[in-house]
Amino acid sequence: MTITLRWGILGAGNISSQFVFDLLLSNERKSETHHVVGSIGCSNKQKGQDFITANKITEANNYGVVPVVQSYQELYDNPDIDIVYIGTPHTYHREQAIGCLNGNKHVLCEKPMTVNKKEAEELFALAKSKKKFFMEAVWTRFFPAVKELRQKVYDEKVIGEVHRLFADFSYYADVTKLPTSSRVRDRTLAAGALLDIGIYPLTYSRILLDDKVGDEHTKFEFKSFMTLDPVDKVDHLSSIIIKYENGKHAILSTSELIDGPKAYIRLEGTKGWAEMYSDNPARAKHFKIFFKDGREPIEYKDESGYNGFIYEANAIAQDISDGKLENDTIPHAETLLVMGVMDQIRKENGLVYDQDN
Ligand SMILES: NC(=O)c1ccc[n+]([C@@H]2O[C@H](COP(=O)([O-])OP(=O)(O)OC[C@H]3O[C@@H](n4cnc5c(N)ncnc54)[C@H](OP(=O)(O)O)[C@@H]3O)[C@@H](O)[C@H]2O)c1
Repeated sequence: MTITLRWGILGAGNISSQFVFDLLLSNERKSETHHVVGSIGCSNKQKGQDFITANKITEANNYGVVPVVQSYQELYDNPDIDIVYIGTPHTYHREQAIGCLNGNKHVLCEKPMTVNKKEAEELFALAKSKKKFFMEAVWTRFFPAVKELRQKVYDEKVIGEVHRLFADFSYYADVTKLPTSSRVRDRTLAAGALLDIGIYPLTYSRILLDDKVGDEHTKFEFKSFMTLDPVDKVDHLSSIIIKYENGKHAILSTSELIDGPKAYIRLEGTKGWAEMYSDNPARAKHFKIFFKDGREPIEYKDESGYNGFIYEANAIAQDISDGKLENDTIPHAETLLVMGVMDQIRKENGLVYDQDN
């Protein structure tokens, strides 16, 4: 059955471009789900027009629709939009999500959904009261590669008993040369490696060491360290060790000061290990499984041509068509669990944002 979802894109920046690329490619491929980009909500109308041009959004690849360029408020009020994708820095998510919900829109909000758990709880409560679908855009969870790896490791048990995961998301941002107003350094924009990219190693520990989500999750405890920059006072180097109650360990790291290892995931079992590779560890597209007995490694590559946002977008279209208010792969409780862990890590290491007070 064809499902049509009419999207408003809030914020005409980097991640919104990558998201829209996938929607348009899916349309060009005549996929069953029709993703119509109906509006670009933007702080500046010329910038919104430039976004449409740069991303080549045309009637031909957008089901006959040329998106309108609107202010954020006009987007909230637009009756021709079903769902808004929020692609702005974290500190704006709360206010913009409230605007969308009050305008009766469903919401897909970029990660981290908010600066802390308290704000996320507030948004989920509002979404429920408005009977609107709300999801944090943790796209990594939806990649076919993740499903495939879990199938091999846990259903087929190809690497035996799994005991340990190493997961990293680090990149050299040349931090000291960036202005303190940059999104990577500005504390008022809730900058810091943990919230921006450290959320992914945390997510991998949730995906690869626990088959349950949200309130059903396997219990765990953790210890963490952050190094706070003396000038911008946020973390550009953080490490976390998690111990699940079934004994498994996750050793997680994130940094904007150094490049991470080529194999950003190493999942270790008694008979072998799995490695994942990517230029962007959020994009789970390529893994290899190695065996201690010298058997040929198993390799998987996602060569779909998508950035990878289409997987979450299609899941959401199905959910909304089914009348659901949250997604089973990342229910509200799972977002709250991870936000709570990040709150605790920041608390233990003295990283406080204005939104925490
Ligand atoms: N899923 C992923 O893998 C991934 C990757 C990168 C980023 N993200 C998330 O996506 C969000 C945006 O990241 P991005 O790299 O796309 O950011 P960006 O390009 O710097 O900014 C996106 C948009 O946010 C608004 N904006 C930026 N800086 C602002 C400021 N100082 N004050 C007010 N508005 C501002 C602008 O909206 P207008 O166009 O309306 O002016 C801008 O176009 C963040 O929450 C980030 O964590 C996710």
